[in-house]
Amino acid sequence: MQTLLITEPDSEGISRAGEILRAGGLVVFPTETVYGLGASAIDEGAAAKIFAAKGRPADNPLIVHLAEPADAERYAVVCPLFFKLAERFMPGPLTVILPRREVIPVTVTAGLDTVALRVPSHPVAHALIVAAGVPVAAPSANISGRPSPTTPRHAIENMYGRADCIIAAGDCDYGVESTVVKIEGEGVVLLRPGAVTPEMLAEVCPVKLSETLNRPVGESVAPESPGMKYRHYAPDVPMYILDGSDETVYEFLRDKDDCAVICFDGDRELLAREHAFSLGDRADSASHAHRLFAILNDINAQAHDGKIKAVYARMTPAGGVGLAVFNRLIKAAGYNVIKLD
Ligand code: TXA
Ligand code: MG
Repeated sequence: MQTLLITEPDSEGISRAGEILRAGGLVVFPTETVYGLGASAIDEGAAAKIFAAKGRPADNPLIVHLAEPADAERYAVVCPLFFKLAERFMPGPLTVILPRREVIPVTVTAGLDTVALRVPSHPVAHALIVAAGVPVAAPSANISGRPSPTTPRHAIENMYGRADCIIAAGDCDYGVESTVVKIEGEGVVLLRPGAVTPEMLAEVCPVKLSETLNRPVGESVAPESPGMKYRHYAPDVPMYILDGSDETVYEFLRDKDDCAVICFDGDRELLAREHAFSLGDRADSASHAHRLFAILNDINAQAHDGKIKAVYARMTPAGGVGLAVFNRLIKAAGYNVIKLD
């Protein structure tokens, strides 16, 4: 497939990309969370192309991106709590699951009677949805199972030749995907943590954490969000989280060769090694979120070149947006945690 690459999205480029979406094509675009792979959410054939391009299992539903919260009424059965959440967090990194209306084909919702809605704040994403004139179904623009792309280079590496158009313009601010919540009664259930934290949601309504949040979903437990049961973000070599003090982590790694290390700015002994990556200051969870997927994508490339045989990551703090970082990290590591102390 020929891919139109747009690196400086002016109004002409955006209207061209909007036409491609309206005509049933695939467009990769930046959002404030991660890069998305978009298609018209009211065109069954277009949505089906997303699953083919990503190699995504057909039972994993897509998020529908809208220009304004008010548009939600056309595609879902809304409620007062939706508008309370929208007033506080939209546009921005929050996805809300609501009962679906018929205009959204079941391909998009993977057969569910609910639909996930999000209003991105990234100016290019917003302009693109307006230009398309249709709601835009968009998962993260990675090949299924890989880390989500958060930089133009990683978006191109994943989707060149698979999408009709790629708007490759800048790094994504947050770097982890949107918070996903489902409205239940007067409150919400948190299905996927993101930059809108449980503490922030709790200022608006009661919040329950999904039981499967940071635990592997067993065959017998049906996940509330289908995407949570798949292997995710994983590099193509074994990955482990190291739970220990500076001393025990340094000691453990001393005789480990040919491995990548994910650590913090203060870990000078580790950063002196080859294939060492810093998430930023240990206390700066926003920086960890911003860098994690780009690091995992780079590590994957090194793994493919045969340069590394394993990945060891230091445990990250789990407060605030750190909950989202730890959630992605532990999934990438396949829930392998090595306790050192
Ligand atoms: O930040 C984001 O949300 C990015 C950007 C592109 O907007 N998109 C994204 O999409 O992360 P994706 O497809 O990679 O993840 C969507 C998640 C999956 O875990 C999926 O199972 C869940 O949302 N989901 C979608 N619709 C759902 C529904 N009706 N019920 C439960 N979970 C749903
Ligand atoms: Mg994804």
